[in-house]
Amino acid sequence: MGTPFISLLEPTPLAWERALPPEEQPNAASIPRTFLDAMTVRSQVFVREQNIPQSNEYDADDPRCAHWVIYASVNQTVTPAVTDPSTGEVVRPRQSETRSVPIGTVRLVPFPHPHHPLDGGVYVDGELVGTADKNISPEDGDKTIDAEGAAATTKATFAPDRPTTFHDGVEPYVKLGRLAVISEFRGRGIARQLVHTAIDWMRTHPSYFDPSPAELGFEHLGMERSGTLPRWNGLICCHAQEDAVKVWEKCGFQVDEGMGRWLEEGIPHVGMFLRVQVQPEVKGV
Ligand SMILES: CC(C)(COP(=O)(O)OP(=O)(O)OC[C@H]1O[C@@H](n2cnc3c(N)ncnc32)[C@H](O)[C@@H]1OP(=O)(O)O)[C@@H](O)C(=O)NCCC(=O)NCCS
Repeated sequence: MGTPFISLLEPTPLAWERALPPEEQPNAASIPRTFLDAMTVRSQVFVREQNIPQSNEYDADDPRCAHWVIYASVNQTVTPAVTDPSTGEVVRPRQSETRSVPIGTVRLVPFPHPHHPLDGGVYVDGELVGTADKNISPEDGDKTIDAEGAAATTKATFAPDRPTTFHDGVEPYVKLGRLAVISEFRGRGIARQLVHTAIDWMRTHPSYFDPSPAELGFEHLGMERSGTLPRWNGLICCHAQEDAVKVWEKCGFQVDEGMGRWLEEGIPHVGMFLRVQVQPEVKGV
């Protein structure tokens, strides 16, 4: 494997057909290559390996996310060698070429987010459909369900959330997710490289996702006057599959015990946080 390189796709509209895999997208010509490659990796890992439905892999957050894809140069056989069956002698040698192939991806979801998942909640396609103890009807999933005295919503909102161990329920945070590395390339520091690249980018672009008063709309002008407009100050979250907790820990994240444990697509998840020091931005660079 040659030296991997990483490509960044900043938030962009995406004409994605949820039910179809990347290789069958009808609007592929208008979709950035980096996103097609991110979805190729995600389909391979989450859909084929972890049996998550293809249509649940893409979600409404994808167009507002920053995506990173890591590529490796691999030598691939284009035409196999031809041998003379009677002598076993190679008549034409194998022909190969070096190609860049996508081998890993991660995305960064800006704030606002839906409320923290319900402890014990059962989520399918981003919607709360039940709890480990009792079933809640799917129609209730996108509304509001009381949990430990706090409301949980699956829609992104600036409304205060329930406080957890590392989050006061109010501070804006960004969320890393959809971390995936193709199985043959695991155990070589690829995930670590992706996560650190995303963190470094966020640290050096701390105001990238801070909304202006105009974006927030008239009703938030009070926030501006009181100096409480959402501003990112270094807090990063992830919803980690339990089997991947160690990987996130190696990247500096800590499990948020107060957030609890829940199921996403049948896979147990926990919340984790990392706080980084933001770097002052150099304007015009
Ligand atoms: C989780 C995943 C992205 C890790 O990718 P990777 O490229 O193999 O990870 P890295 O090689 O960068 O490992 C980073 C660190 O975590 C450790 N690590 C990696 N996989 C681990 C595992 N399964 N259990 C414990 N530690 C692990 C590595 O040893 C390394 O530590 P080190 O730097 O001290 O040696 C990959 O296994 C994967 O795609 N899994 C399926 C999808 C998935 O679970 N995604 C996470 C969703 S939250």
